[in-house]
Amino acid sequence: QVMKNISGLKEMEKKLEAALGVSKAVIVSGDSDQFALVKNEIGLACVKEIERNLESENIIAVTGGSTLAAVAEMMYPLKKAHQDLLFVSARGGLGEKVENQANTICAKMAEKAEGRYHLLHVPDQLSDESYHSLMEEPSIHQVLQYLHRVSIIVHGIGDARQMAIRRHSGEGILEKIDTEHAVAEAFGYFFDQTGRVIHKVQTIGLQWEDLFGARSVIAIAGGKSKAEAIKAYFKRGPDSVLITDEGAAQEILKNF
Ligand code: G3H
Repeated sequence: QVMKNISGLKEMEKKLEAALGVSKAVIVSGDSDQFALVKNEIGLACVKEIERNLESENIIAVTGGSTLAAVAEMMYPLKKAHQDLLFVSARGGLGEKVENQANTICAKMAEKAEGRYHLLHVPDQLSDESYHSLMEEPSIHQVLQYLHRVSIIVHGIGDARQMAIRRHSGEGILEKIDTEHAVAEAFGYFFDQTGRVIHKVQTIGLQWEDLFGARSVIAIAGGKSKAEAIKAYFKRGPDSVLITDEGAAQEILKNF
C-alpha cells in the first residue's frame, strides 16, 4: 500500500509539473488544511531541497508565514566544511504574529542549520517618505545587496484576501483585491487569476526581479484552500521548485 501511494504521488508530481509549468514539483501526502503535521512534512521536504542546492557560497533568502515557520522547525545542521551559509530575511516585520515573521524564521533556520544570518529590521509596509530614507541606511543597503545576489529563495504562497486581512492591510487594499479579483499573494505581491500583479506592498526586501537571478527558487504552499492561489501565481511566476501537499495538488489537477 505504501509503495502504491509513493508511486501515485510521483505520477501526480509529473502531472503537476506539466500543469503549472514548473521544473520540479514535490508532493507530500495528506492535506495541511486538515492536519497541521502535513505542514511539517512540507517543511522537511523543503530543507532537503535546500540541501540539494547548496554550493560553496550560499545566500538563502526566506520570507514569512506558517509554512516557512515549519521549514525552520524541521531544519537540521546543513553546514559542511568550505561552505558558507548565509540566511537573509526577504521581508521586514509583517503585521503578523512574531513566529510567522521572516526575521524570526530566518534567525531560527540559520541557528539550526549552523549558518549565519542577516535580518531586515524594517516594518514591512512603508510610506514613500520612510521608504526613501530607510533605503539610505547602510545596514539596510547591505541586506539589499545580499538579496540582489541571492542563491536560493524560499517563499510561501497565500490566498490574497486572507493574507491582506492577516497582515492588517488597509481598507483600500482590500477593496483593490476585490475589484481586481486578486487570488494569490507571495512576498508582498498580489496576483489575479491570470498571474498579473495587481498590487505590490511598498516594501524594502525581495523584489520580483531578484527571483530571476537566483540559482533556485523554492515555493512552498499546501492545503486544498491554496489551490487557486498556487495556480494563479505560476501563470507568470519564475521557474521554481514547488513543494506542496496532496490536498492542493488534487484540487489543482481537478480540471486539468
Ligand atoms: O505569502 C504567503 C504567506 O507567506 C503564506 O502564509 O504559510 O501561513 O499560509 P502561510
